[in-house]
Amino acid sequence: MTRKILVTSALPYANGAIHLGHLVEYIQTDIWVRFQKMRGHECWYVCADDTHGTPIMLRAEAEGITPETLIERVQGEHARDFSGFHIGFDNYYTTHSDETRRCANEIYARLQAAGLIETRVIEQYYDPLKQMFLPDRFIKGECPKCGAHDQYGDNCESCGAAYTANDLKNPYSAVSGARPELRQSEHYFFKLSDPRCQTFLRRWTQAEGRLQSEAANKLQEWLGAEGENHLTDWDISRDAPYFGFEIPGAPGKYFYVWLDAPIGYMGAFRNLCDRQGLDFDEYWRPGSATELYHFIGKDILYFHALFWPAELEHAGYRTPSKVFAHGFLTVDGAKMSKSRGTFITAESYLAQGLDPEWLRYYYAAKLSSSMEDIDLNLDDFIARVNSDMVGKFVNIASRSAGFVVKHFAGQLCTCDESLPAIQAIRDRRALIADHYEARDFGKAIREIMALTDLANQYVDSVKPWELARQAGRESELQAACSNALNLFRLFAILLKPVLPALSARAEAFLNVAPFVWEDSATVLAAGHAINAYRHLMTRVDRKLVEALVEANRESRAPLPQAAPQKHAEQQEKAAVVAVAQAAVATAAGPHVSLDDFMRIDLRIARISEAAHVDGADKLVRLLLDIGPLGSRQVFAGIKAAYDPAALVGRLTVMVANLAPRKMKFGMSEGMVLAASDPDGQAPGIFLLAPDAGAAPGMRVK
Ligand code: 2FM
Ligand code: ZN
Repeated sequence: MTRKILVTSALPYANGAIHLGHLVEYIQTDIWVRFQKMRGHECWYVCADDTHGTPIMLRAEAEGITPETLIERVQGEHARDFSGFHIGFDNYYTTHSDETRRCANEIYARLQAAGLIETRVIEQYYDPLKQMFLPDRFIKGECPKCGAHDQYGDNCESCGAAYTANDLKNPYSAVSGARPELRQSEHYFFKLSDPRCQTFLRRWTQAEGRLQSEAANKLQEWLGAEGENHLTDWDISRDAPYFGFEIPGAPGKYFYVWLDAPIGYMGAFRNLCDRQGLDFDEYWRPGSATELYHFIGKDILYFHALFWPAELEHAGYRTPSKVFAHGFLTVDGAKMSKSRGTFITAESYLAQGLDPEWLRYYYAAKLSSSMEDIDLNLDDFIARVNSDMVGKFVNIASRSAGFVVKHFAGQLCTCDESLPAIQAIRDRRALIADHYEARDFGKAIREIMALTDLANQYVDSVKPWELARQAGRESELQAACSNALNLFRLFAILLKPVLPALSARAEAFLNVAPFVWEDSATVLAAGHAINAYRHLMTRVDRKLVEALVEANRESRAPLPQAAPQKHAEQQEKAAVVAVAQAAVATAAGPHVSLDDFMRIDLRIARISEAAHVDGADKLVRLLLDIGPLGSRQVFAGIKAAYDPAALVGRLTVMVANLAPRKMKFGMSEGMVLAASDPDGQAPGIFLLAPDAGAAPGMRVK
């Protein structure tokens, strides 16, 4: 029976790069989806960028661009990285879409009609300088327990204490540095504490097979014992300024990003339906015969197994068939780390020339249906890819294809289906399919590799390379190579969900139509002609892996920004720190203290002379009058943008205590300040100028 299946992976935030931690999930989901498609099921895989929220709004502001520009750019980067790793989404969309907005408004209206939305006034920290309410993670201060400085508003990284932002001593805004004030504001809540939600969730979360057992236990803990009401209402609104969807009928109030993020699954699917003529309602109506699966990290179980099904149920939609949570990635047994170079981005992996299918294979070999963390051990990665993929699998083809093309014009003879290796594949292929279906990819790979051992024993026993040297043994050679290539073909079929690109190359050289799962029950007919062997895969060179780690190593002092896990809290913290850094320092540099900043003596300067410098392409010589401090000669690289004559008399800003530098043309005794776009998007150099009233020599701070 053909199943109709809709599959999602969690939506990555639109303000960060995809890294190897993210890829565990996308590769896991993609393997599963490809397997379903090979089985002939109608399976749709959708995803999108998660585009809303305060961190994205502030990052855009720090970059001097609109949130729309930022999310468009990042969506392009994400799509590029995913396609580089052969993640075959049927639609990669954005939550900032009409489709998602319409679904969000509809769900909200239905929950409201069901009496499950309530407003309440809450007290929250407000940044008077930025004129915005601050999420807890954007507030820092001293730990109320141990007094450690610069701790976030939820827990102390020094002593581990948990608290609320209101408990912090000497709080300050991580955005502007201002002291926050407590202010009141009306918020919208989804009434999760309503008995209807409680009753529904108890039933839903404990349904057989709905959640992994570890997840179901966690949910049981969150829900508490029967009769207890552990769930609190969920705050689904945020005040302007906020980048998101304004709540209908509530000006200045926006849906919290986590409200519309899972609705983004629907939005992405709606968009796909519109393009492909699919029936959206068939997949989302209550009692639908279709299947809906969400692949997620274990850190966002709360959102997917509590809020989301409760929303769907009470808004009149179907609920997910199953939620599949996976663990985090460690590299060499530890959290991904920027200082160790193990916080590896998808982009750098590909740019360094590593094959994406090496990683797909390695992850598959490590993945199971549990929520356990998986470790990318770099030595093991090299060893396993080289011994399994190249040594045991690809070599079967590379050791036999050449002879068939050279001696038999590519023609195969009858495959001996009684060979133990072929028999074993026939016996085990259903079990391998079961492992794929159950997301036990590690078990599937172990089975397949055990079968390749049998195949290699066969090739080693018939030794085609020796037969090829002996006259009169042509038919034996053709039989040996035909059997070997048939075995190779069967492995390429069984591994296709994991290695789609390599399998496509195999299909091309074997001269066959794209493999489907049932092909693993057949062999190629006698007389079938293959094409010339095309290189399928190289071995991993250790140097490549070393270069990858080097390329990702951050040499400067580690910033608190590292978000080694795809963990929601850490990610958000990382975003906060990144935004704050971008706002107060250069995009790349760490914070400077106020004391450090004050050591720079910035002064208003009047340009009293300006002249071309003979022999210098870029420089203009300036004589700067800084009032009581006298005058300074400065060579400034502004020739491309300014005619010296037009500069005379202008006021600007200079660094007056920069160590003098001896240049070919004379001493340079400071520096004038000018703006430029490092990306070259807005070419030019723009000299700073003070407002009217500033006079030479005034201090700038
Ligand atoms: O944790 C995260 O990275 C979120 N952006 C995942 C959202 S998944 C879904 F609900 F949209
Ligand atoms: Zn503390």
